[in-house]
Amino acid sequence: MSLPLSAASHNSPRLIARLAVCLLLACAAWPALAANAAGITLNPHCPPGFELVQGACRLRSLYQRYDSLQGAGVGGLKTGLPSWRDGFTPQQIDLGRYLFFDPLLSADHTLSCASCHQPERGFADGMGRSVGSGGQLSARSAPTLWNVAFLQRFFWDARADSLEQQVLEPLFKETEMANSPAALLASLRGSGSYRALFAQAFPDHFSEPTAGIELDQVYTALAAFQTSLVSLNSRYDQYAHGYSDALSERELAGLNVFRSFVARCAECHTPPLFSNQQLAVIGTPEPEGLPFDPGAGPGLGEPSLRGAFRTPGLRNIALTAPYMHSGRFATLREAVAFYTGGRGHAVPAGEDLRLHWHIWEPGLSDDELDQLVEFLHTLTDESLKPVTPAAVPSGLPLMHGPVTPTTGSTP
Ligand code: HEC
Ligand code: HEC
Repeated sequence: MSLPLSAASHNSPRLIARLAVCLLLACAAWPALAANAAGITLNPHCPPGFELVQGACRLRSLYQRYDSLQGAGVGGLKTGLPSWRDGFTPQQIDLGRYLFFDPLLSADHTLSCASCHQPERGFADGMGRSVGSGGQLSARSAPTLWNVAFLQRFFWDARADSLEQQVLEPLFKETEMANSPAALLASLRGSGSYRALFAQAFPDHFSEPTAGIELDQVYTALAAFQTSLVSLNSRYDQYAHGYSDALSERELAGLNVFRSFVARCAECHTPPLFSNQQLAVIGTPEPEGLPFDPGAGPGLGEPSLRGAFRTPGLRNIALTAPYMHSGRFATLREAVAFYTGGRGHAVPAGEDLRLHWHIWEPGLSDDELDQLVEFLHTLTDESLKPVTPAAVPSGLPLMHGPVTPTTGSTP
């Protein structure tokens, strides 16, 4: 048999040709072929921002030197981090990176996690509602994945408690990747490349010769990769750590409005994550023609939480327009101006929402709103953005927007 074993497997005609040969050979040669063709070795180094300690990658941040959130007060600069996930191996993180970009994870092999969480759009997708399998619209907008390592609860309505629980929805929901556990496992087990990579990431499991890829390993690797998306080195952070020139006068004025008792933004968007992770009813409007979204209310069976959403972090917020769960606001200026439109001004007639007491009538001037927006732009930091792989182990074409120059682990 004369197949080009050394050729990279990232173009689909070649993949189709190989599949055809595979069929002819009753797939006997497929695993060996694919393993040779991919030639991928997982990165043995932790991503930047992490240190290898006894085989596990541990986060390193100046914020680890500061006291707890409670101890330091709301809006304080040197405020400690909430608890976070780390401790994955470098290989688990790198395997997660490949899985994240691989359309093999979706039912029809056209969508990857990166289709809706695009690195070049702050790991969101620039849409009010994401487009999933077969062009179906998601109910809400795709949130950023920056700093998910610090979250206790996931989704706009906080309905998942861990990344491993969260990931079941995009993988298996009809409107997202529409896969099934059995089909996903079959695709991965059918790929010799993936077998070799999972063996690098989970060596103990694969020391047993009959061991196969398990779904839990997929969830672990995706969690490992996502927890490496840490953004804590913006100009704001430089200012917080004591470089007073890091912010301009207007940006500083914006920070002061943000943490003032009049605007009260920092009460909910608490530094350093710019979220206290609590559910709050603030009454943002839906796009024209869409029904009211009850948020966390129905799921928690708690009428007072009707219309409640988890306060989103504001890191890299300048990259993730449009804003709010519905993508209702196209710009940051519009999103910020919502807060000064009057308590409950956008609540639909007939809805009696229990609006949070920090949603009030701050009466911010146009200039103060501009200053807030200027300040929010100082929260941009993509210095630890991972490298988008040049090709994925399945050999399928990458399915997301253009690749921008990055720093980070090796491709
Ligand atoms: C079709 C688009 C789409 C795809 C594909 C997709 N997501 Fe999402 N993702 C979303 C949307 C929309 C939400 C918000 C849904 C909600 O809150 O109701 C979301 C939410 C999340 C969250 C929660 C973030 C937070 O702040 O709570 C995580 C984590 C996440 N996705 C990871 C993934 C991973 C990992 C994959 C691949 C296995 C993936 N997503 C695939 C659209 C997508
Ligand atoms: C009572 C808590 C609370 C206060 C106070 C508050 N927010 Fe929010 N903020 C939220 C919640 C909850 C959401 C999500 C609402 C939604 O999706 O409908 C949000 C969303 C946002 C968003 C959009 C985030 C995204 O990812 O789309 C921005 C920007 C924002 N807030 C800025 C501010 C600013 C600026 C202030 C002060 C003027 C402020 N917030 C005050 C709770 C709060």
